[in-house]
Amino acid sequence: MIEQENYMPEKFRIGHPAIDVQHEVLFVFYHELMLSLQNADDSYHLSDIFLGLGSYVLNHFKFEEDAMLATHYEQSAAHCEEHHLLKEKVAEFHNRFVSVKNMKEEHAIAQEIAVFLANWLEHHIAEVDKQLAHHLNQWQ
Ligand SMILES: [Fe+2]
Repeated sequence: MIEQENYMPEKFRIGHPAIDVQHEVLFVFYHELMLSLQNADDSYHLSDIFLGLGSYVLNHFKFEEDAMLATHYEQSAAHCEEHHLLKEKVAEFHNRFVSVKNMKEEHAIAQEIAVFLANWLEHHIAEVDKQLAHHLNQWQ
């Protein structure tokens, strides 16, 4: 098994091992995004990150949403709404990203998604997912 680098600060660990590992992957994407932004001519890699993140969150959100369904989680509507918002934002940023003509604009968009993602991770994982983990751990 390939060891995955851990870029997730400890405060984001929510106490559900399977979900924590998936969140670590989200932080790998965030780390890659920041690295790519430091590289002036890295637009190919940026596009890759958008696609990778977009498809990873589909699986990750499905995992959480299936767990919510199976355990009759009462906050699931509000929680899923936040998942939906991130999926839409990533798709929207990616569409904008592929339609711009120069690298300066590409980087401006990538910068925007980095800020959006940082805020989303901060709020969603540290608060909303933490509540879900608490619920799932009690259910067992
Ligand atoms: Fe979530």
